[in-house]
Amino acid sequence: MKNLQIDLKNALPFISQEEFKNYDKLIRQEDKKLISGTGRGSEFLGWIKLPETISTDLISEINKTAEELRKISEIIVVVGIGGSYAGSKAIINALSGNFDHLQKGINPKVIFAGQNLSEDYHYDLLDFLKDKQYSIIVISKSGTTTEPAIAFRLLRKDLESRSGKNEARKRIVAITDKTKGALRELSKKEGYKTFTINDDIGGRYSVLSPVGLLPVACAGFNIEELLSGAKAMMITAQNQNFNGNPVYQYASIRHALYLKNKTTEILACFSPQLSFFAEWWKQLFGESEGKENKGIFPASVNFTTDLHSLGQYIQEGLRNIFETIISVEKTRSDLKIPFDTDNFDKLNYLSEKPLDFVNKMAESGTIAAHVDGKVPNIKITIPELNEYFLGQLIYFFEKSCSLSGYLLGVNPFDQQGVEEYKKNMFTLLGEPGYRDS
Ligand code: PA5
Repeated sequence: MKNLQIDLKNALPFISQEEFKNYDKLIRQEDKKLISGTGRGSEFLGWIKLPETISTDLISEINKTAEELRKISEIIVVVGIGGSYAGSKAIINALSGNFDHLQKGINPKVIFAGQNLSEDYHYDLLDFLKDKQYSIIVISKSGTTTEPAIAFRLLRKDLESRSGKNEARKRIVAITDKTKGALRELSKKEGYKTFTINDDIGGRYSVLSPVGLLPVACAGFNIEELLSGAKAMMITAQNQNFNGNPVYQYASIRHALYLKNKTTEILACFSPQLSFFAEWWKQLFGESEGKENKGIFPASVNFTTDLHSLGQYIQEGLRNIFETIISVEKTRSDLKIPFDTDNFDKLNYLSEKPLDFVNKMAESGTIAAHVDGKVPNIKITIPELNEYFLGQLIYFFEKSCSLSGYLLGVNPFDQQGVEEYKKNMFTLLGEPGYRDS
């Protein structure tokens, strides 16, 4: 079986060989801290072994619940924010057809709510759902996050007013802390089906737990394959040989580039299905690394679309960026450019060539241009966009992110900074606990 590959040849010329050699020892030291639980945030390491520790009983229960929800729903609304939704949305978008959401007859459709406080969004959502059979998966580890709590209250009331509490209860599944939080209490009181988010798994590292797996199974995708890809990467990431370990290489090169003032990393994808995967990646790295006035700013672009906009900046703007490309070797479909007798568009030189051939040439041309423009490039290749390789990619980034955080000297598992806006908001709203602050 082929694996995810990393190619550093367009990044290494930006640092000295001597500098990069030091990481061989350094990264193994940081990994040792991570694995032995002696580094910062060691109470949140449950994700490391998750691909092999998750029980077959739990996987069966997730699949069974997904099947039940699929049978009774045209729409499944996943309510959550941050790590409680980004991973499943990334996987579902990556694996779905680009227009599946508009196709009649592909049911159920998994949609998302609870990631914003927009009145229009929620009004439109309730309006859209009014003639649909729908179910809700509400996900919140703390059980108290405002955005999903409000969305869930609106949806729950809507379901209950339509068909009564008993019917609503069959259509609601909650994923939350084992014992604590408002969502656990409500679930107990109402008798909702629940799954648990283990204490030792933080939100943005939770996609391979029920948090990501249930929505992905509801969308009809194979969660065993996802876990099996993640497990393969977990094993690869244990390789103590630097050159055989893509996680060691990625975390090290990022840090080495950061020390050269390359403080922004742009994740670039040439497949629109991966655009939300980049959102998941941004959350993972941004929330894990950006602290103590340190950290690489994670940005993303969709190519070739953004070559006609941000491409200009990347080529010639401030030289504080490096680029990481996710390249997918094989497309899932087969489409050739047709021959045209008139050839007004002068495209006949490409006739009978797969469209992906053109995309790949755009990819190689872009890498060469940006490297010429002094933007180091890291290339990550997966053989195809399926559950197995997405599982590899997810685990690859999770482990790389935690080691990157350790190299930077921060705790990659906390997020104190996100509390600040909440305090202000609650004070302004007059929330009883904050009224006097
Ligand atoms: O990574 C994190 O911990 C956060 O992004 C959380 O996932 C996010 O804030 C949602 O929290 P909760 O699941 O408690 O509602």
